[in-house]
Amino acid sequence: MKRFAVFVSGNGSNLQAIIDACQKGQIKSQLALVVSSTDKAYALERAEKAGIPSLVFNVRDYTNKQSVDRDIVIHLKQEKIDFIVLAGYMRFLTPFFVKQYAMKILNIHPSLLPAFKGGSGLKDAFTYGAKVTGVTVHFVNEKIDNGAIIFQHAVPIKDDDTLESLEERIHRVEHKIYPEAIALFEEDRLKVKGRKVFINGGPSGEC
Ligand code: GRF
Repeated sequence: MKRFAVFVSGNGSNLQAIIDACQKGQIKSQLALVVSSTDKAYALERAEKAGIPSLVFNVRDYTNKQSVDRDIVIHLKQEKIDFIVLAGYMRFLTPFFVKQYAMKILNIHPSLLPAFKGGSGLKDAFTYGAKVTGVTVHFVNEKIDNGAIIFQHAVPIKDDDTLESLEERIHRVEHKIYPEAIALFEEDRLKVKGRKVFINGGPSGEC
């Protein structure tokens, strides 16, 4: 059975959706570790409640970003982690880290990439006045919000939306599609050709 880690920094609603999907058997791999960039993350309470070990690596405790990532990698290898799921992790992974887990790191971003990259993608789409935004699940490479796209789901922005109502709809989509993407990944059903990701072995057995 594969073992994976979820990286968090905040509320952890996506972590919760992943925990629930593991409990339902939708995700078969073992969620073996939660890694947080801060001890303030509510996600840590969710992990504790579900009996999942967690570790906090705060960049402030290290001399530089590379050394925190080196330390995290040491722990991940000790825990025999096969792949990583970023779920609201507010740190940019160093190229060193990405190389260690090349094409084995997934991220979810609250916009239709490449629009509205960065830490405030949801709010940026809303304040920009976009009519449609959405959710992107993608592989992580060495650039910010740039890796090959696994899933994209559009979410319309309604005239009477507030940031909160939009956020709620975005989260609903995230909580559905992230476990689906993880399930495909763990079964090796995501085939990557350049920037394109194909889902293999569907009902017809074709790409
Ligand atoms: C989500 O909107 C995700 O797309 C983004 O960060 C947010 C995390 O939310 N990367 P939560 O902590 O999972 O509730």
